[in-house]
Amino acid sequence: MFTKTKESYPECLEDIFCGVNTVHEIEKSSDLEKKHLPIITAPKKVKKGEWFEVTVEVGKLLTHPSEPGHFIMFVELYADDTYICRMDFTPNTAYPVMKAKIRLEHSHGALHAYERCNLHGTWENQFDIEVSE
Ligand SMILES: [Fe+2]
Repeated sequence: MFTKTKESYPECLEDIFCGVNTVHEIEKSSDLEKKHLPIITAPKKVKKGEWFEVTVEVGKLLTHPSEPGHFIMFVELYADDTYICRMDFTPNTAYPVMKAKIRLEHSHGALHAYERCNLHGTWENQFDIEVSE
C-alpha cells in the first residue's frame, strides 16, 4: 500500500516511475491517464460482514495495450490500508479485470485499487464505500 501521493514529493511529479500516479479530474484526463487509471465498481453501501462483488478494470476508459513490451503487471485492492486481494497479469492477458467477492467487518474508509504497468508505473484510484451495521 502506498500511503503518500506524488504531491508529497514534488520532485516526483515529472517522473512517472516515482510514487503513485492518479487522476484528479477524469473529464480532463489524457489518453495516458485513461489507459492506466484502475476503475473500481462496487456498491456505495454494504452491510457489515456481508459478501459483495468488487470489480477493478484497467483500460475501461481507453484500452491499454497487452503486448510483450507493454502490459499491465498486476492489480491490487485495499480497504484503506488493509490488503484485500491481488491479481497478476502477463502480456497474454487482454483488458485486465479483477473481480472478487469480499466482505468488510467495519468501515475502512475508501477502497483503493492499484495497478502497475511495466512501461508507465503505478496508478491508483479510490471508491468511497459505507459499511453499516
Ligand atoms: Fe502502459
